[in-house]
Amino acid sequence: MSNDRVIIFDTTLRDGEQSPGASMTKEEKLRIAKALERMRVDVIEAGFAIASPGDFEAVKAIAETIKDSTICSLSRALDGDIERAAEALKNANSGRIHTFIATSPIHMQYKLRMQPDQVIEQAVRAVKKARSLCADVEFSCEDAGRSEIDFLCRIIEAAIDAGARTINIPDTVGYSIPHQYAETMRQLLERIPNADKAVFSVHCHNDLGLAVANSLAAVVAGARQVECTINGLGERAGNAALEEIVMAIKTRQDLLGVYTNIETEHILSTSRLVSGITGFPVQPNKAIVGANAFAHESGIHQDGVLKHRETYEIMRAQDVGWNANKMVMGKHSGRNAFRARLEELGIVLPGEAELNAAFARFKELADKKHEIFDEDLQALVSDSLGEE
Ligand code: KIV
Ligand code: ZN
Repeated sequence: MSNDRVIIFDTTLRDGEQSPGASMTKEEKLRIAKALERMRVDVIEAGFAIASPGDFEAVKAIAETIKDSTICSLSRALDGDIERAAEALKNANSGRIHTFIATSPIHMQYKLRMQPDQVIEQAVRAVKKARSLCADVEFSCEDAGRSEIDFLCRIIEAAIDAGARTINIPDTVGYSIPHQYAETMRQLLERIPNADKAVFSVHCHNDLGLAVANSLAAVVAGARQVECTINGLGERAGNAALEEIVMAIKTRQDLLGVYTNIETEHILSTSRLVSGITGFPVQPNKAIVGANAFAHESGIHQDGVLKHRETYEIMRAQDVGWNANKMVMGKHSGRNAFRARLEELGIVLPGEAELNAAFARFKELADKKHEIFDEDLQALVSDSLGEE
């Protein structure tokens, strides 16, 4: 694999499902997994096999159905979890066991009630156990964002020696700041002697709204797998949004120098599928997939886009699955956009005077309504013509 390729690991069906109220049935998870495969997601984390019989069945069904993506199940660093994950994945074309243990002082002291050396011992045992059942093993240092760098170096070196081939550095509570998270990634890659034997991964939560920025900063520092979810679904404020990561990498390839294999034209339909299944609406101003992501209302912007699309657009709407960009008719719209929309509707006014009269009526109406629809335009134009 080229060192410039970023592996896209989607965890909508695992971390995304951990959003309160977002749990999904096996059938719903299968539909989403098929959409992710169609989009050419590299790794699909299908669930947490030990969590419930339903989740086990969902991971198993996805592992048996999806052929082109690697299917992954999460497991704590416990034999029972790892065995359950392996069982669910046994018929996968390409399966991965993802095992994790917390590495921050606060988690080790209060949650695990373990000494740091015991945590390393348990991590090594878990990775070895997973490797005895599956060739592809990922190890995560939970709460790495608040862990000490020296301890991270020790546990990661040991996990790689035990057979982990992906090392994930989660910012579990969304506490990191881009330059600092990038520096952690850079130091890990530099200081861990066997770092070249593993792909380093990021998994960022969005508690401070920095999940995408932190992920990209870590990619610049050398991470080559990004864990993310459709629409940024996930625990609390969610995870890094897949659509934002992928389009940032595609749009700013000049600066980031990396690429993904994602077929971006399937992004919008997948976003809508996930929103429909979970019942989590997508906010209108959400990047890439929100209803306003490619909509222009201001007259200055509309005029610019009509003259040259790139004056106010950095991506093509069609590249992520929209039919086209959209000129929204409202009180900020200008005469050029008004005329262009009338032409699209097949309305040709006899002359400039009629256009001016219709435009004046449109502005009056726009002061009273949030958005002017095509039916409003048709009605006001026929009123204008009827008055003459
Ligand atoms: O946020 C997190 O730390 C996780 C791990 C289990 C990878 O989701
Ligand atoms: Zn997470």
